[in-house]
Amino acid sequence: MRKKVDFLVIGSGIAGLSFALKVADYGNVCIITKSQADEGSTKYAQGGIAAVMYTPDTYEKHIKDTMIAGDELSDENIVRITITESTERVKELIEWGTNFDKNASGQYDLAKEGGHSEFRVLHHKDNTGNEIERALLDNVKAHPNIEILENHFTVDIITQHHLGIEVNRRTNDIKCYGAYALNEKTNEIDTYLSKLTLIATGGNGNVYNTTTNPVISTGDGISMVYRAKGKVENMEFIQFHPTSLYNPNEKPSFLISEALRGFGAILKTQDDKEFMQKYDERGSLASRDIVARAIDSEMKINGWDYVYLDARHLNKNKLIDHFPTIYAKCLSIGIDITREMIPVVPSAHYNCGGIKVDEWARSSIKNLYASGECASTGLHGANRLASNSLLESLVFSHRASTDALQKFKDIEYCNQIPDWNAEGMVLNEEMVLITQSLKELQLIMSNYVGIVRSDLRLKRALDRLEILYRETEDLYDKSILTVKLCELRNLINIGYLIIKMAMERKESIGLHYSIDYPRRVI
Ligand code: FAD
Ligand code: SIN
Repeated sequence: MRKKVDFLVIGSGIAGLSFALKVADYGNVCIITKSQADEGSTKYAQGGIAAVMYTPDTYEKHIKDTMIAGDELSDENIVRITITESTERVKELIEWGTNFDKNASGQYDLAKEGGHSEFRVLHHKDNTGNEIERALLDNVKAHPNIEILENHFTVDIITQHHLGIEVNRRTNDIKCYGAYALNEKTNEIDTYLSKLTLIATGGNGNVYNTTTNPVISTGDGISMVYRAKGKVENMEFIQFHPTSLYNPNEKPSFLISEALRGFGAILKTQDDKEFMQKYDERGSLASRDIVARAIDSEMKINGWDYVYLDARHLNKNKLIDHFPTIYAKCLSIGIDITREMIPVVPSAHYNCGGIKVDEWARSSIKNLYASGECASTGLHGANRLASNSLLESLVFSHRASTDALQKFKDIEYCNQIPDWNAEGMVLNEEMVLITQSLKELQLIMSNYVGIVRSDLRLKRALDRLEILYRETEDLYDKSILTVKLCELRNLINIGYLIIKMAMERKESIGLHYSIDYPRRVI
């Protein structure tokens, strides 16, 4: 099957859907998504979306908090753009029908999270992402110019490489002509020719053994762009959320929102003692990198598998009203959070790096934009401030749409692109070749490339990854493609990028902490 569209969108989370809505009045849009339309990190976002709404908050305060969290590695121009456009973008989300909670006086009820100096997080109870995804999908489904193709897995973006023209990392006019995607119903790989393409494929938490990310987060977009010789950066800055529920056999790990700490819950040791003041004067509300490292350190020193989050002292009715999802989830495994402490452990949560883009979300490949968690805009620097990622997705999808609408009419389709050639490929009959490699990869990454790193651990990880890489490339070259095989291949590529960039960074900064290098002095 071959299809031509003005705008090809890969991914149906906040980044993909908000872009689609902005361009759909001007051309036809096809959204390709690998699972059900609503499945992705967006749906699971709990705490909310950060934006400057009322005094005493100001853009300057939010900018300062973002720069501090990013360990001064954030691009100040990008931080300024994102924060000063926050109010307008959030209002648009409200116009699209998103309901955020209000207080008795009719103002939005703003929450506070780690690293924020003001109350500025708009939320819908503790399931904000679900409400945002619902509102966006309602609008997208009602739009006559937008088609959503579920269970379609994008394998690769199309460039001049597919015309037989050699490209390498120094080629500066690589162009994107669309993408190849596997239709899981027909098992065919279809060709999508587009004038402009947006990659919005989300994160890659599944490269680790424990993650808050849904199973779709396998770094496909980043990996596709890297294979196409596009620029990828800052992959070493993987954010571990300090508080996921300790429930060993559950995957993904259930998140205990940082908003609960913003509401007054306190981190404690297994013997019921506060410990965060030892690490940072902001205590349980220090920025995420500091809290995650502190928990990791307490667990390692004491040989514990988890620490506790204590919400027992908080107003019971208000606690249940604000955090109904967390309350119900914990109750389902026998923990009444109004009376018992919650066992928590850090889990891989967010990728601060990704496909390098400029202030209009343009990647280094022409006619290709990236937005959302797969993109590296420069906003997060070495560590993301809580609840800044939903905001970043909105701002940069808006900016991508502004740029795209100015140019798409002048772009021609590339009709010479060949269809996918699967000749001679055979069906891989042994799933264990994929599942075992995935387990190995996840353990290597968790044990050697986690919260605390060292040169030796990184080297060991790279050596082991190389074996997995060779075996998987060999399998890929012979096999009829399946989603699981492609995801494994992509995750190995993500692991490689994280390790390589971590090895190149000869300092400890933000989320990258190595026992071999002292902290960078700014
Ligand atoms: P996603 O919402 O993950 O969507 C990615 C889309 O791409 C999916 O539709 C997926 O199917 C599709 N896709 C991926 N690969 C392919 C492929 N090969 N082919 C076709 N389709 C593909 N951030 C905040 O700001 N505030 C919060 O409160 C917050 N809470 C969070 C809680 C949890 C549990 C998690 C996991 C994350 C949270 N985050 C939060 C982070 C935030 O939710 C994500 O960064 C954001 O939702 C990413 O949006 P996205 O559109 O980039 O990706
Ligand atoms: C949370 O609710 O703690 C997640 C917020 C985020 O990841 O930004």
